[in-house]
Amino acid sequence: MTERTCLSIVLAAGEGTRMKSAKPKVLHEVAGLSMVGHVLRAVAAAGGTAAAVIVGPDREDVAAEVRRQVPDATIHVQRDRLGTAHAVLHACEVIARGFDDVIVAFGDTPLVTPETFARLRAALRDGAAVAVLGFEAADPFGYGRLVMEGGTLASIVEEKDASEAERAITLCNGGLMALRGDGALALLERIGNANAKGEYYLTDAVALARAAGLATAIVLAPEEEVRGVNDRVQLAEVEAIAQGRLRVAAMRGGVTMAAPETVFLAYDTVLGRDVSLEPHVVFGPGVTIADDVTIRAYSHLAGCTVAAGAIIGPFARIRPKSRIGEKVHIGNFVEVNRTSIAAKAEANHLAYLGDATIGEGTNIGAGTITCNFDGADKHPTVIGRDVFVGSNSTLVAPLTIGDEVLIAAGSTITLDAKDGALVFGRAKQAGLPGRGAERIRLNKERRAARKAKEQGKG
Ligand code: UD1
Ligand code: CA
Repeated sequence: MTERTCLSIVLAAGEGTRMKSAKPKVLHEVAGLSMVGHVLRAVAAAGGTAAAVIVGPDREDVAAEVRRQVPDATIHVQRDRLGTAHAVLHACEVIARGFDDVIVAFGDTPLVTPETFARLRAALRDGAAVAVLGFEAADPFGYGRLVMEGGTLASIVEEKDASEAERAITLCNGGLMALRGDGALALLERIGNANAKGEYYLTDAVALARAAGLATAIVLAPEEEVRGVNDRVQLAEVEAIAQGRLRVAAMRGGVTMAAPETVFLAYDTVLGRDVSLEPHVVFGPGVTIADDVTIRAYSHLAGCTVAAGAIIGPFARIRPKSRIGEKVHIGNFVEVNRTSIAAKAEANHLAYLGDATIGEGTNIGAGTITCNFDGADKHPTVIGRDVFVGSNSTLVAPLTIGDEVLIAAGSTITLDAKDGALVFGRAKQAGLPGRGAERIRLNKERRAARKAKEQGKG
């Protein structure tokens, strides 16, 4: 079978007023990716060969996100929102280039899977001119109803135009549709707006296809998949479903989670086998974790890679552009930012490592801080292999520390250190015999005197 070509048209011109947001609705994120990004990824995974996105006027931000996801997508501005068919026709020139399949998807419906888009395409391959994504609605109010005749789909009736009998139908339109490319424009151009809302309804393509003697088909999906987002409550509901899917996929892939409901993954989190995620671990986008890594409770990771056998956390933060090597230990309250740490190095307690490169087997003591920022610019810290950085060291960047250097605890290091050196950077200690005990005794006496005075008053 030769590959069928497929154009995906994503409608994203909605204003999303109920989001109460300065940001357009389709840019709100689910599992770390914009909703429109999810839709574009899903249609691409279903074999979409071209994408056209319909955006509202002055939505350069939406256009930019679309281009970030799919650089060669075409963007079409819909000035007046006159309905879903009107929106689709803004991509008429692209449709006219000739595709086997045309998919219409909504930018605010991010949970539709590639498999479902592929099933819509399969219905076209099997002879339908229009294939509709249907679902059994728990509460059909507000949805278009799928009207059947003789076992096949005859038309879709919108809530406002439905008769009493049609309103009783629970089989509803998920909104997405696939149209055979060769007849798509002819169907879309015949859609009128003689309905209760005075809008050009994409859903009318079904009855028009039937009238032209063409076959229609329904592809069924669970209601969960066609869930659209109109406000932030629905956004949270969709997030919960997306997280549920990601957690199940991770566990099926060999990840242990004692409390999966507390672990938050990103759409692109990559987790190896025998990774163990303790409760309350959160992933931002762009994280790749190799096999046999343990991430302890309350850790946050984003934009980083962690090599096999490493142990992270509890309470660790690994920030973007960081690379954690094999069997590295990153302990509690350690922040790693734009830093590469080679195999078997350790930073077990209370440290900030920013813009640093740390060699194999090096031990970073508790309280070590790389001073990477001078108030205007960021500077690098390079630390060699098998270095021992004593506790509470302050490393003022730019700085280069050679291999096997020992930095004395409590040092402030401003000068580079050569291989093998022992460096101190702290004030010389002074001591006065007996003065400590004397001072402690005096303090005790003063406290007792004050107490006596207060009791005398009371
Ligand atoms: C649509 C379907 C309905 C289905 C429901 C599922 C039509 C006529 N109706 O109704 O059968 O049950 O989805 O959720 O298609 N949009 C534009 N430009 C427009 C109009 C809409 O870009 O001019 C976009 C919206 O931003 C949204 C999507 O298209 O993402 C759907 O539009 P909406 O008005 O929400 O359609 P519904 O009334 O929900
Ligand atoms: Ca809607």
